[in-house]
Amino acid sequence: MTPGAVRAATPARQETGLGGAENRAMIQKDRVRSYFDEQAPHYDQRIRFFERILCGDGRQWACAQAAGEVLEVAIGTGRNLAFYPKEVRLTGIDMSPAMLDIARRRAQGLGRPVDLQPGDAEALTFADGSFDTVVCTLSLCCVPDERKAVAEIKRVLRPGGRLVLLDHVRSNVAPVQAIQRLMETFWCRLHADSLLRHPLEQVRAEGFEVLWHERSKLGIVERVLARKPANGATA
Ligand SMILES: C[S@@+](CC[C@H](N)C(=O)[O-])C[C@H]1O[C@@H](n2cnc3c(N)ncnc32)[C@H](O)[C@@H]1O
Repeated sequence: MTPGAVRAATPARQETGLGGAENRAMIQKDRVRSYFDEQAPHYDQRIRFFERILCGDGRQWACAQAAGEVLEVAIGTGRNLAFYPKEVRLTGIDMSPAMLDIARRRAQGLGRPVDLQPGDAEALTFADGSFDTVVCTLSLCCVPDERKAVAEIKRVLRPGGRLVLLDHVRSNVAPVQAIQRLMETFWCRLHADSLLRHPLEQVRAEGFEVLWHERSKLGIVERVLARKPANGATA
């Protein structure tokens, strides 16, 4: 994650007439969006270091799993764009317009056709079964409600479609997890990011068939390859 304090939500949001939980969710989304809008110009430079230490060839691995009609959820500045196979048809969504602007410039520079759209991972605008593959890297740690995002990803995947995840997660190494727990409160306040998530749990709860998963870096980094059941079974 990139440094920089998460801003308070705009007063306009705080004055909405929404119910408590819904209002809190909107405020949290506003905070995440404004954090990434502000961080966008520095994101590539700052993430490069964390990427090298934590992810290794994770981006290459994730993109190599993609085939057919592909959706990248929370595509950010498009750091995966260079690694997708040429033949995939790519759509990318993100809630931060500033991150998407950089992704657009990157796609142009690479000559990579991609349909980039503003969007919310928790409420995707695509029809059920629209995609053969959904890729999401380093983002389920930031999406305010990652359970909703995984449910939406399942909805927009065709039966038998594949979900590819790369993220930092809650470690399964006790002392490392203890440090993550100590850091979580200030980390969440400073960055729009949680250290204690484990999206594989939501993937399983949604009834995906987990084809492969691997932890590395003291259990902090996880790669997941999962398939939506072909029979459309639900959790
Ligand atoms: C740490 S960045 C990762 C970007 C990119 N996936 C990568 O691998 O570099 C997290 C991204 O998630 C996006 N994001 C967070 N919550 C979101 C949501 N609910 N819907 C869409 N994008 C979201 C942010 O705007 C940001 O671009």
